[in-house]
Amino acid sequence: MDPLQEMVSRIQRERRHIAMTTSKEPGKDLPDSDVCPICHGTGWVYWRDEEGRENGYRCDCGLVERQIADRKLEFANIPEAFKNLDIRSFDLGVYRKDESRKVIRNTGAAIKYYLDNLDGMRKDGMGLYLYSGTKGSGKTRMAASIANEMVSTYRMQVKFSGSVKIINEIKATWDDKERSESNLLRALSTVQVLVIDDFGTELPKDWIGERFYSIINGRCQDNLITIYTSNLSLQDLKYDDRITSRIKERTFQLPFPEESVREIIAEKNRQTLIAGIKGGNKEA
Ligand SMILES: Nc1ncnc2c1ncn2[C@@H]1O[C@H](COP(=O)(O)OP(=O)(O)OP(=O)(O)O)[C@@H](O)[C@H]1O
Ligand SMILES: [Mg+2]
Ligand SMILES: [Zn+2]
Repeated sequence: MDPLQEMVSRIQRERRHIAMTTSKEPGKDLPDSDVCPICHGTGWVYWRDEEGRENGYRCDCGLVERQIADRKLEFANIPEAFKNLDIRSFDLGVYRKDESRKVIRNTGAAIKYYLDNLDGMRKDGMGLYLYSGTKGSGKTRMAASIANEMVSTYRMQVKFSGSVKIINEIKATWDDKERSESNLLRALSTVQVLVIDDFGTELPKDWIGERFYSIINGRCQDNLITIYTSNLSLQDLKYDDRITSRIKERTFQLPFPEESVREIIAEKNRQTLIAGIKGGNKEA
């Protein structure tokens, strides 16, 4: 196919896709409480092949199509909000509790050491495991800043993705003739640096464990850096020790403060708003 023809058919494909995901809006009429009885709200129907390997296809209720339409960023991009943040923009002073300040001081020092010695870390395939039980403590922002640093200063090839996103990408290959699961797994196993955001939030189903094992094991064998963020410590991850022992061996596990920067920001915004209203009243 010549390039022009190829472009035209790509545009047609995309148009068809947009039409499919916007005009039909499958499942739109279902009230939220009506979980699809076939896929039980997962969007996927599963079956096992002769070797006992779990497989699946998209449910007709269209949940997956809606999820795909929602997916604006392409796979493996650093989140828009964190795209231009470098490591210096991470403010260690935002936390309010003494304990938080202590934790972030140590973790911050460890990350600085890690980046200062990145050549050695690369040789050994050492990554990071950033975790805190509390949501909004700055893990994703830090991981994105590190990823930016690796790309801009070290010119490394980095892919940033969420754990759930990776799973959805894998599922999407199951009934896509143009993309194969093995190609995707290979890409995830061989990229120089892989950031897996929110690892462990996904349901620890057998097939998911198998896929992550294959990615993580492949990366370990090739001494490639993997950076994880998680709301669970390594001990609390719901995967078997084929996975956790490999992560343990190939990452520095660094705790984040049990304090939500998200809430601190919300509170600051609220104070600014109140001050603004008071200021406005005075003028009136
Ligand atoms: N040190 C910081 N300086 C400035 N803003 C920060 C800092 N840490 C976090 N934030 C902001 O706080 C919000 C929450 O941070 P982030 O998303 O990184 O938290 P998280 O630990 O990944 O949360 P979750 O557990 O929900 O995934 C974001 O808007 C982020 O930009
Ligand atoms: Mg996060
Ligand atoms: Zn369904």
